Amino acid sequence: MKPPFKIGILASGSGSNAEQIITFLKPFEQIQIAFIASNRSKAKVLERAENHGIPHFHFSTKNLAEENILDRFEPYQADAVILAGFLAKIPAHLIQKFDNKIVNIHPALLPKFGGKGMYGHHVHEAVFNAKETTSGMTIHLVNEEYDKGAILFQAKTNIEPKDNPTSIASKVLALEHFHYPRVIKTWIDKLREP
Ligand code: GAR
Repeated sequence: MKPPFKIGILASGSGSNAEQIITFLKPFEQIQIAFIASNRSKAKVLERAENHGIPHFHFSTKNLAEENILDRFEPYQADAVILAGFLAKIPAHLIQKFDNKIVNIHPALLPKFGGKGMYGHHVHEAVFNAKETTSGMTIHLVNEEYDKGAILFQAKTNIEPKDNPTSIASKVLALEHFHYPRVIKTWIDKLREP
């Protein structure tokens, strides 16, 4: 029997995606959430981790840029890192350490509406202002270029004339909640194939 595959989750805010991932993965003993960490000390995601009895900690965005962030992660021996609404840029030393093992979710159909400054409500406002008729979400590997790593999965939703940035955001979030845990599970299963 292989040892469990361990993931670390990084999130900056509410962590509603992290919550879905925790709940979905619970029955699969071969995947463990080793830690949840946030660059915001008051992020609700840390409360969620506490409620689920998952080790959790805060680090500053400045910490993240320093190589010793790897020392903070080291005790948990994570095999991969899942970004769930993590709004700081991942530095090169983390990308090198977790080579092709960092996954991100982006609330639009990349390559459109990605890059620096494109996060959360900014994305949905840009999509709305561009009069797009569809939006959606993208799950992708993280490389050194913002939102440009290999795409693992995308799902779309229609934008109706009555929609606004808030309603687009909730349609996209519903897609994220459904697909992100499942795509993570499938991706890990593939990595673990003999
Ligand atoms: C999600 O919509 C996620 O796609 C987005 O932040 C939200 C976090 O929600 N991420 C980005 O914009 C990354 N560029 P949550 O904290 O409730 O999971």
